[in-house]
Amino acid sequence: METGKIIFKIRRTRKMLNPRLEKELNEQINAEYWSAYLYLSMAAYFENKNLPGFANWMKVQYQEEISHVLKFFNYVNERGGRVLLKPINAVKTEWEDETEVFEDTLIHERKVTGLINNLTNISLEEKDHATHNMLQWYVAEQVEEESGVDEILQQLKMLEGNKHGLLMLDRELKQRTFIDETIKQ
Ligand code: FEO
Repeated sequence: METGKIIFKIRRTRKMLNPRLEKELNEQINAEYWSAYLYLSMAAYFENKNLPGFANWMKVQYQEEISHVLKFFNYVNERGGRVLLKPINAVKTEWEDETEVFEDTLIHERKVTGLINNLTNISLEEKDHATHNMLQWYVAEQVEEESGVDEILQQLKMLEGNKHGLLMLDRELKQRTFIDETIKQ
């Protein structure tokens, strides 16, 4: 048998990932990609409003979501599963103001937390301890995500549209840099 055929046969037989989880993890890859797309749309909104700090914060958020996609992507492959990419749905492009953007962000992150919790429940139902263990990283990450977004949202609410305060916050948000937290585990 040729080497290529042998490798192909080994790959076909080393599948360790539960099919239900494989499907759900593929759904989550799509959801994380949609998140990235949403945050890039928010970044574009802020760029257009001449708020480079807010735009920077959203671009870092975009990069984080891509890293979340890749962590799932690598995990599915590591377990001998198959990643199947689906179309990314359209995202919102206009908001009333900065506060509405962060309200939407918090609503979205809470929704993602629900998806991660659901995936975690499925991993327990299927007794897939490796996937359950991998998901704990996302469970912890969602706590940080929600808390970070809520902090900015509360600050925006306190400003009540004050332009000077808004520019100060913009300057602060410009400091955010991307750190790939997925490689720390
Ligand atoms: Fe990947 Fe913001 O959750």
